[in-house]
Amino acid sequence: MTGFNTKLIFGKGLNKLTDNNTGAVNVPIYHSSTFAFKDIDAVNKYDYSRSLNPTREYLENQIAALEGASRGFAFASGSAAIHATFSAFRPGDHIIVAKHIYGGTFRLIYDYLTQLNIDFTAVDTQNLAEVADAFQENTKAIYFEPIDNPFLKVTSIRQIANIAHDRSAKVIVDNTFLTPYLQQPLQLGADVVIHSATKYLAGHSDVIAGLVVTNDQDFGDQLYFAQNAIGGILSPQDSALVIRGIKTLSVRLDRHLANARQVLDYLETRTDVIDNLYYPGQAGDESDQIAKTELRGFGGVISFEVKEGVDAKKLVNNTKLIWLAVSLGSVESLIELPYFMTHLELPVEEREKAGIKPNLVRLSVGLEDPEDLIADLEQSFQVAQN
Ligand SMILES: Cc1ncc(COP(=O)(O)O)c(C=O)c1O
Repeated sequence: MTGFNTKLIFGKGLNKLTDNNTGAVNVPIYHSSTFAFKDIDAVNKYDYSRSLNPTREYLENQIAALEGASRGFAFASGSAAIHATFSAFRPGDHIIVAKHIYGGTFRLIYDYLTQLNIDFTAVDTQNLAEVADAFQENTKAIYFEPIDNPFLKVTSIRQIANIAHDRSAKVIVDNTFLTPYLQQPLQLGADVVIHSATKYLAGHSDVIAGLVVTNDQDFGDQLYFAQNAIGGILSPQDSALVIRGIKTLSVRLDRHLANARQVLDYLETRTDVIDNLYYPGQAGDESDQIAKTELRGFGGVISFEVKEGVDAKKLVNNTKLIWLAVSLGSVESLIELPYFMTHLELPVEEREKAGIKPNLVRLSVGLEDPEDLIADLEQSFQVAQN
């Protein structure tokens, strides 16, 4: 048995590349689009890098090992990974999708996939009766994020998988906010797990990447078909950056969690400027229990609404240390207003329906000294109150 941290460093079965002739402890970056055949009758494992590249393959095995999956696939972005996953469906299929999902996924679904005659029903995945009611004869899958964005409410993978599998539908989970260190969805009943590896997995804001894993042989074949035929592959260079990031995932996440806790403790004292604080395990409802039983930790993202009289734009414009930027899960702390930034893809009425208001702030807590982050927020709140 290999432990999680050993798998972070070595990937699958102490996986080492067999044609590394130098003893280099890092995975070689195979900048080769094509691979020579010994002769015309030779059967090559690698023939062309869109189909398979040794550096990308290492990463695919690494994420599969971490998720307890038989296969992994690396794409040029989280969005490409989501697109490749949806490409397994056909006109006439119906998919249930969570109401609160990443804005780019919302755009892909409603501005593109619906035009291919794939039908979607949006539900509140915390409401199991609503989920069960949404199933139709042609429902092929349910798609959600176990921690939703930006309110960070938790959905039970176990409960949703029970409902979906009774109706022969696949469970597809985007687990970008948690990573396999904090939750391994396949072990809870999911069939397919997607990551924007741009976030915690790579962890340094230096690469855009997406990963998908599954234990489902047929779905895996369809993912490979999409990867090879549609061609949204991750480059060898970017694969190496994600491989490197993954090696320190547990160390970074432990610090993200500890820092988020300290920042949260501070924000909890600022009831004079904050109305609502959103973090998993804090909702005061059943989702707290799910968070405690299905997650090993709650991640490093915190959202909150500022009170009337506090200018949210001034708050994010005036942090000195914390960057005003979209994205999350990186070594540096990032702050943003979802209404104007990450969730701008949603039409205004959808943003309003989802409860995303202009005074909602999302903070991705990084690895800086928490005292410095708190001091930065403190000074920025002061500016925002004037
Ligand atoms: C939950 C989630 N899924 C998918 C994506 C898309 O990933 P990428 O930006 O790598 O295409 C994002 C990006 O922010 C995200 O937050």
